Amino acid sequence: MSTFISPNSIEELLCKIDITSVISTYVKLKKEGANLKACCPFHQEKTPSFIVFTSSQRYHCFGCQENGNAINFIKKITNSNFTEAVKKLASQFGVQLSYKNECNRDKTNPNKKYYDILDTVMQLYNQQLKTSKAHNARDYLTKRLLSQNVVDQFVLGYAPNDWHFIRSSTELASFKQQDLIEVGLLVDNEEKKIVYDRFRNRLIFPIRNASGRCIGFGARCLVNSKIKYINSPLSPVFSKGKELYGLYESKQANPNLKKLLIVEGYTDVISLHKHGINYAVATLGTAATTEHLSKAFTYVSEIIFCFDGDAAGHKASIKVLETALPIMQDGRQIKFVKLPLGEDPDSFISKRGKDNFLTYLNSNLTSIDQFLFSVSSNNLDLNSLDDKAKFISLIKSYTDKLPFSTFKSLILNRLSQFTGVNIQKSDNFKKKVANNSTNTNFYSQTINRYNRTTKKINIKISLCGYIIKYLLHDPSLVEHIDISIDNLLYYNGQDSYLLLQLLKILRANPKMTPCGLIGYWYNTEYSKYILDLAEQDCENLEGVKELKAILARIKRDIKQKQHKNNFLTTKIEPIDEQCNGEDLNFKTAYRKAFTELRQLKLKK
Ligand code: CTP
Ligand code: MN
Repeated sequence: MSTFISPNSIEELLCKIDITSVISTYVKLKKEGANLKACCPFHQEKTPSFIVFTSSQRYHCFGCQENGNAINFIKKITNSNFTEAVKKLASQFGVQLSYKNECNRDKTNPNKKYYDILDTVMQLYNQQLKTSKAHNARDYLTKRLLSQNVVDQFVLGYAPNDWHFIRSSTELASFKQQDLIEVGLLVDNEEKKIVYDRFRNRLIFPIRNASGRCIGFGARCLVNSKIKYINSPLSPVFSKGKELYGLYESKQANPNLKKLLIVEGYTDVISLHKHGINYAVATLGTAATTEHLSKAFTYVSEIIFCFDGDAAGHKASIKVLETALPIMQDGRQIKFVKLPLGEDPDSFISKRGKDNFLTYLNSNLTSIDQFLFSVSSNNLDLNSLDDKAKFISLIKSYTDKLPFSTFKSLILNRLSQFTGVNIQKSDNFKKKVANNSTNTNFYSQTINRYNRTTKKINIKISLCGYIIKYLLHDPSLVEHIDISIDNLLYYNGQDSYLLLQLLKILRANPKMTPCGLIGYWYNTEYSKYILDLAEQDCENLEGVKELKAILARIKRDIKQKQHKNNFLTTKIEPIDEQCNGEDLNFKTAYRKAFTELRQLKLKK
């Protein structure tokens, strides 16, 4: 019987490996902001146009358009088929693959029995909800306005008021008692020598992993009880601090999932989905962990945290900030929103509806950098030097956690502008002084000197520079730029070269974000200039009209240059050749005259 690798284990493989370490075995990669760059291994080239995007774990060659994930790379570079490539990666990274045969039977996955038990129990609890025993659970659902649709979508269920429902179910008869204990469905009281059902007379929320297998349950009491929720304990397939409730349901409802709204509770997720916010997930009451965030960023690049408007919510958001900073690679976005006091997402959307919820959300979003500034300046008077120093030291304690990225540079730049202290330069100098700590006078003198030179530099921008500036602000403007790359080659100088590169990138990948673009030059000789351009405001951009006017000027310039070029090649070069390199005086004089003549023409 033929077997094939199960999609689950391919997904697991891709989640566990890092594309950078896969590719760096074959190609010498150079850091380029958050991403990496190299000469493409799949076509001949002298300047690198092969980029490895660390956040999306994909590669793309802007020269030959070859692109894909780690498996595609191995397939192509080792000239192997898909299965061989997957096996090679799995053995390299120590990932155990599971196989399926024609009957869809998973043979090698040791956790299969647990998934099978939990999937079966999910269905059993769901069926129980329809029986006469479950009238209190159905009343509860009605009271909370949870309709049949959401019951179906989230496979909600009812655990009957029975100490031995699980053991007496014929559907579970083939499973070992020990396995039912291990996934937390049965409680084993060794002292009293009794084994009984963990969940009784409760509304059941099955928790499914990203691929839809049930991995555990949340169970809510139906009458006021001291213990509102009981959750599955830690098991071979479940760990509360790692799972996002609703991730599978969000992926199902939303094939093009772009962002996730992270809330606290089961009912918040369900209520939001019911109202059409089909990208809501929950951390199950625990504070968000690095695993939560990494999992979320595997599927989306934007995460919005929604907190209650009370002190606990504020504390939780600071905790998230601290957890999130170390993994804020370029391209990842985290935003925060605080609900009005006394509301949770469920109560808010149930009372005020989807539109009001979204309006509230959109007008109360705080980006991670805004949040960083507001948390750090809380209760401080930034006009006082004392408080300003406190502010800088507090915000630095946060930014020090950020990985090396364009995002970090931008934040430090903004901090410098905001405080008038050049944070990055003074950091470098502090480091230098720490290495050479005898001369304190040198330290204070240099810091003062550098502080004096932190005023914003006004850079003179060329026509191409203008276009670059607008594209860095709004990459979608690229669709209006109709100059050909070949024509740009007639232009000399840094700006036209940068514009040429920018156009190549954007034409191959029009969805690049400003951050991604800036990241392309990060850590190169152009990075500072690009950042300076990106920081220029675009207030007097009258939309596409101004852009087109600049383009027209560039095109006119290019025409003139082409004309001159033609003139040189058809008229001057033959004369030069006739001179044969000997009549040097004649040649020099001729060139001088020609230049003067041209300048006169241009002035006219
Ligand atoms: N939680 C838990 N155990 C508790 C209390 C809470 O596991 N004893 C988790 C649950 O995942 C819960 C989340 O924390 O969904 C948020 O708790 P809370 O806001 O108290 O509950 P709600 O989800 O709002 O539930 P409900 O609206 O039904 O009260
Ligand atoms: Mn609630």
